[in-house]
Amino acid sequence: MYRTHTCGELRTGDAGKEVTLCGWIQTSRDLGGMTFIDLRDRYGITQLVFNMETNPGLCEQARKLGREFVIQVTGNVRERSNKNLRIPTGEIEIEAARFVVLNPSELPPFTIEEDTDGGDELRMKYRYLDLRRPSVRDNMILRHRMAREVRNYMDSAGFIEIETPFLIKSTPEGARDFIVPSRLQPGSFYALPQSPQTLKQLLMVSGFDRYFQIVRCFRDEDLRADRQPEFTQIDCEMSFVTRDDILDTFEGLVRHLFKSVKGIEFSEPFIRLTYDEAMESYGTDKPDLRFGMEIRDLTGIVKGRGFSLFDNSGYIGAISVPGCSGFSRKQLDELTGFVTRQQSGAKGMVWLKYEADGTLRSSVDKFYSAEDLMLWVEKLQSGRGDLVLVLFGDREKILPALSGLRLEMGNRLNLRKRDEYKPLWVVDFPLFEWNEEETRFYAMHHPFTSPRPGDIQLMETDPGAVRADAYDLVINGIETGGGSVRIHDASLQKLMFKTLGFTEKEAAEQFGFIMNAFRYGAPPHGGIAFGFDRLVALFGGQDSIRDFIAFPKNNSGRDVMLDTPAPVSEKQLQELMLKPSGRKQGQE
Ligand code: AMO
Repeated sequence: MYRTHTCGELRTGDAGKEVTLCGWIQTSRDLGGMTFIDLRDRYGITQLVFNMETNPGLCEQARKLGREFVIQVTGNVRERSNKNLRIPTGEIEIEAARFVVLNPSELPPFTIEEDTDGGDELRMKYRYLDLRRPSVRDNMILRHRMAREVRNYMDSAGFIEIETPFLIKSTPEGARDFIVPSRLQPGSFYALPQSPQTLKQLLMVSGFDRYFQIVRCFRDEDLRADRQPEFTQIDCEMSFVTRDDILDTFEGLVRHLFKSVKGIEFSEPFIRLTYDEAMESYGTDKPDLRFGMEIRDLTGIVKGRGFSLFDNSGYIGAISVPGCSGFSRKQLDELTGFVTRQQSGAKGMVWLKYEADGTLRSSVDKFYSAEDLMLWVEKLQSGRGDLVLVLFGDREKILPALSGLRLEMGNRLNLRKRDEYKPLWVVDFPLFEWNEEETRFYAMHHPFTSPRPGDIQLMETDPGAVRADAYDLVINGIETGGGSVRIHDASLQKLMFKTLGFTEKEAAEQFGFIMNAFRYGAPPHGGIAFGFDRLVALFGGQDSIRDFIAFPKNNSGRDVMLDTPAPVSEKQLQELMLKPSGRKQGQE
């Protein structure tokens, strides 16, 4: 037996016991008469003490131990005189009687403690060392607990976990595929799944009724803090359900996770906003509801006063920032700079201060009287002391700019608290999005998404106005999940492909397998996929998903630890027929 206890286990009640622990040396402090060592394992840290008076030989040896050496130590537990109440084992220490070095260690390239001196790139290069740090280790444990709770909930709700293949055909999620060359069929390629979308629909045709999978997905897209080229989804599909059945089931999953993992219970049902409402009030389809500052449309009340910037704008919108009427000229100039730097199409910013004494002052006093400005304030429901910020231009550009400004002000006023969670459903997305460059419609979600039943008749006459039976789960401004009710009717699917500009031949080439399957009795079905990494990072209170993935890629898609992507040998390329072989015919 290597150990009797872990490094996180012993308490004052264990005083007097002889114990054996194993772990890594985090720090060593030599105080002359005594040497103290912090021994770390996954479970915690225990202080070891080596006494020069009682055991000088052992103490001498202990002084030679370096950081991250792996040792096995035996000794008696005793209550500490100098207690450390910040750690659970801080009231005891082990008076070491003997130890064995199980493995020495080279000096690690950065300190392996809560706060490290290692930069991002270095931590990633030595990720196996970084994972020893308590904060990163705890992220992995959080991820494990959440996966377990997902499985508990899904199992209790009758879902079956089924694995689907990774070597498949291109999937319709809209990003670029990673492709894998086939050796056995030279010149042909597999694609790695961007999601198991089509496969889970086939499982519904097979009659599995309720499927889920915690599954890796692969997308070759530009990376950001919340995007990795390989990431994990909680992927789900259900048969014989309406949209509300699906939303209720998965609201249940999210509630279960919050309750079981964070002890948070939501008293009210999750808010549901339509896409149009979300855009109108927050300028984005993923609003952060932790704070107000909603956008209001001033277009109708500000035009026609001779202020040409407003008169020549299609849309004029504003937010009211509480308690900021005291902003200085410099602060306002700086905010204008922020808005124009966003490259949002906002050409400037107008401000209005509703002073604490009720006075109204604005950057456009020349054009608007106090009574006019009072209308703005009423529309925005501003209070005294508020600062109103107004942007103007094209609606589709100004709404996102206002969204960016709202989030910026939320950050500055510290209104986006990490331990507060505001989930909501955004529903009724447009079915299609128009691509100006290619002058054609694209499916906003994917081509199997069903239109809202009442909108089907618009498919041929006004595709841009058709709403989809699609929904996203948004938490604190982050899209954590998305899904839809699917088309299960062959004629509607045909119409969908036609609107997307696919010829019948193209549709058959790309999606023939699923269209064929649908000829054999496809049940009405729908589903959702959650971004598991994003959910875990949210629960862990961080924006970046990277530290919630054991071995992530950096922003250029590199794994700096494995040093990949990397060239492969000529021989491998030739075997895959990606390079002509140098041999002449007849040569072996
Ligand atoms: P969608 O493409 O919206 O839907 O993806 C679902 C969720 O996956 C997460 N996500 C990502 N997380 C990290 N890195 C990425 N690169 C990344 N891309 C997406 C997001 C997103 O909400 N098959 C459909 C689902 C369905 O219709 O059932 C799909 O994949 O949190």
